[in-house]
Amino acid sequence: MTVIVRDLRPDAPAEIEGFIRVRHAALPYVFFSPESLRHAISLSHPRAHARKLVAEEDGEIIGTAQVGLAHESPVPGQGFLNVYVDPARTGRGAGALLVRTAEEHLAAHGATNLFAWVVDEPGNRAFAERHGYRPSRSAHFLRLDLAHTALPPLQDPPPGIELRTAADFADDPRPLFALDAAVAADEPGDIDVEFTDYEAWVAETWRYPHLDLELTSVAVADGHPVAFSVAHTNGAGRYGTGMTGTVRDHRGRGLAKLVKNHSLHRARAAGYTEAYTGNDSDNGPMLAINQWFGYEIRATEVRYVRAVG
Ligand SMILES: CC(C)(COP(=O)(O)OP(=O)(O)OC[C@H]1O[C@@H](n2cnc3c(N)ncnc32)[C@H](O)[C@@H]1OP(=O)(O)O)[C@@H](O)C(=O)NCCC(=O)NCCS
Repeated sequence: MTVIVRDLRPDAPAEIEGFIRVRHAALPYVFFSPESLRHAISLSHPRAHARKLVAEEDGEIIGTAQVGLAHESPVPGQGFLNVYVDPARTGRGAGALLVRTAEEHLAAHGATNLFAWVVDEPGNRAFAERHGYRPSRSAHFLRLDLAHTALPPLQDPPPGIELRTAADFADDPRPLFALDAAVAADEPGDIDVEFTDYEAWVAETWRYPHLDLELTSVAVADGHPVAFSVAHTNGAGRYGTGMTGTVRDHRGRGLAKLVKNHSLHRARAAGYTEAYTGNDSDNGPMLAINQWFGYEIRATEVRYVRAVG
């Protein structure tokens, strides 16, 4: 049967479901819902030239690709293509067709470097290498069994630090934007991010449909947020960390552990049974913190890069 590649039709619920089914089958550690997918589609900055592609066979979605330019990077021409094929439907040419369609689109919009996350399995790595990509850094997906793991006991904040939640900033989230921008700049990664656009942050991060303001913990010093752990929940047992960060001047004081522990304790009390997170494999401090909580590495993705043009 013939495999075709085309753009996802976001108005068709069956298309959204098909996209999510493939993504969860290929990598269950990254959470998608119809709301989160529609939210991502609605953002599409014009400079990102973003597309959501699907590979279809006999009317069924068997592969997906998220494609675009990293418009928040200070370096121009950084393109990304993240291709996932249903593990039960590999070997039919869907992956190669998705890659070709994505590369043509990115080249047409001036990409000079292409970045692709690849699930760390020999077949996937060989596929990327055959297409001219070279491995670079990697990132882990971690899971904590919240229902059956004893969390570290709740600690009191150190002197001068108060604990709040993101809900306390609902009227004016700008201080949390400033904190997020400061810590994201220090997160290890291969595409530097720099976010300066408050309205874009509100649309993307603050209005993310699974952001849980009550379960997001914030440490405040002298009225300013200095550390936070951002909770994403689906209302059905699944809790994920969007970001944990501490501003430079307050690092090494246990604040990341403090905020994340408070968030996890409250998530468990609210009935969440599984916690997920993802860390760059060079992020020693964050991996140490997550190990302390009892998170276990469940999967790894390798970032593959190809220079073009
Ligand atoms: C990672 C980060 C959140 C840590 O914040 P913090 O408030 O300094 O963290 P804490 O003080 O609570 O705990 C740090 C722990 O890491 C340990 N640690 C520090 N550097 C380490 C390293 N290179 N390797 C291993 N462990 C390390 C510390 O010893 C400490 O553990 P301890 O309490 O047993 O001594 C902070 O550095 C940050 O904001 N980084 C940029 C954003 C980021 O990468 N966030 C994570 C995204 S996934």
